Amino acid sequence: MKIIMLGAPGAGKGTQAKMIAEKYDIPHVSTGDIFRANIKNGTDLGKEAKSYMDKGQLVPDELTVRILLDRVAKDDCKNGYVLDGFPRTIPQAEVLDAELTKLGDKVDFAIDVDVPDENIIRRMGGRRACVTCGATYHIEHVPPKKEGICDKCGSELILRDDDKPETVKNRLDVYHKQTQPLIEYYNKKNILHTVDGTVDMKDVFDSIIKVLEG
Ligand code: AP5
Ligand code: MG
Repeated sequence: MKIIMLGAPGAGKGTQAKMIAEKYDIPHVSTGDIFRANIKNGTDLGKEAKSYMDKGQLVPDELTVRILLDRVAKDDCKNGYVLDGFPRTIPQAEVLDAELTKLGDKVDFAIDVDVPDENIIRRMGGRRACVTCGATYHIEHVPPKKEGICDKCGSELILRDDDKPETVKNRLDVYHKQTQPLIEYYNKKNILHTVDGTVDMKDVFDSIIKVLEG
């Protein structure tokens, strides 16, 4: 099963992708998490990605596509995966489709987690993320057991640099211009499913399960 999570920054793609990955025992592949891990480890890739991410801009397609294709070529992805934050532009989607077609394969579901911009801005300031394992918390909705510490791996939780209000606004603009057209792209392929992302995360997950299990 190959699933793509669509949605604005902060819509809950990562939150839902992790639950899907756990339930179906497939990898959760987030290009944002891969970039953040590289930033943390001080790699050249991380340095390049950071210069775009801090401004709320997209990392160039060429670099992003290379990283994603490397990741999904790994053994653990053979039975499927859930992509979170990729594709984010039409050219990225076209490359993914072309690569899958070569393998006689295709994307099965594109799930758009729909949340209006007003809700997003409120959510982002409260988010805390673990740079080690990628787990996500929210100081009100999903607090960690111990403040500032990841429940899963015990590492420190951070407020992402790109979650500052002015950067969130840029990310939303970039989303509307460059990523939202993917909704129509997958609609035309008849694999688009929209779920209401404003309700409790467990209810969002239930709607997704209904989509995946028909
Ligand atoms: P990325 O890491 O993908 O960030 P994003 O798309 O901006 O999305 P977020 O991770 O901010 O939000 P999310 O939808 O995962 O929400 P979450 O589940 O955390 O990308 C970061 C940057 O990397 C980009 O800006 C770009 O520069 C670069 N990049 C990455 N991929 C790229 C690509 N393909 N091409 C080019 N550049 C790329 O939830 C948010 C918060 O809300 C959390 O605190 C959560 O606990 C809470 N929450 C979740 N669901 C609910 C709910 N139902 N109710 C209440 N609170 C909720
Ligand atoms: Mg995310």
